[in-house]
Amino acid sequence: MIVGKYCQIRPIEERDLDFLQMLAVDRNISSRLVGWDFPPSQYGQRKWFDATHNSRTTRRFLVEDLGGTPLGITGLWDIDWHSRVALTATKLYAPNLKQKGIGTDSIKILMAYAFYDVGLNRLWGAILDFNGPSFGAYAKKCGWRGEGILREEVWREGNFHDLYRVAILKSEFDALNDSEDYINRAVPADTTERVSILDEWWAPELVGKVPRD
Ligand SMILES: CC(C)(COP(=O)(O)OP(=O)(O)OC[C@H]1O[C@@H](n2cnc3c(N)ncnc32)[C@H](O)[C@@H]1OP(=O)(O)O)[C@@H](O)C(=O)NCCC(=O)NCCS
Repeated sequence: MIVGKYCQIRPIEERDLDFLQMLAVDRNISSRLVGWDFPPSQYGQRKWFDATHNSRTTRRFLVEDLGGTPLGITGLWDIDWHSRVALTATKLYAPNLKQKGIGTDSIKILMAYAFYDVGLNRLWGAILDFNGPSFGAYAKKCGWRGEGILREEVWREGNFHDLYRVAILKSEFDALNDSEDYINRAVPADTTERVSILDEWWAPELVGKVPRD
């Protein structure tokens, strides 16, 4: 679990599936997303969980408030371990949001985790031209940059909409004024100081002479 300022993220458990199904059938959310699908049944949701929960290239996380109330889902999709790139997205259930800034908090937690624990170098996403809160959270508040426009890429409510490709590099995350705080939340270990007794204990003459049973 990684604890942010207003929310925390943790692996998805079976007990979260009813909440996630509700999130998936909520038209207020699904109509703002890039992808389209038929709404899942509870059975479909469970099959999806069984098939995807242990993937090497996709990891989803539950976003919950600091008291454990579920708020939404985020994650890393299509992880490319060679080039250290992944797709990310966030989906929050508005009625459970008791304050502003939770989207921003969850995105910063995820970035710190992706760049400083998983070891990625670049995250990307895609935002529809009418999704103000998403541009507000990713671009205005989290330092993401636009990289291109796919014109009339997505059909929604009878019209074609432009899709903006957005991304952030690890170096751009580092430049945010609160990145250090989020890195410490994702990786609390102090890795800056070498343990001082190592110098006497791990003397060169002892190397290779450690007794084995
Ligand atoms: C996108 C989402 C994660 C953002 O979460 P959030 O909790 O609303 O985000 P935050 O409050 O941290 O930040 C949003 C910012 O965008 C701003 N904003 C909202 N509507 C806006 C608009 N139409 N134009 C410009 N900025 C806008 C907000 O004012 C806020 O900035 P502020 O704090 O300076 O006022 C959330 O709205 C969500 O889950 N939406 C449904 C699913 C979705 O669209 N996911 C993204 C798919 S790409």
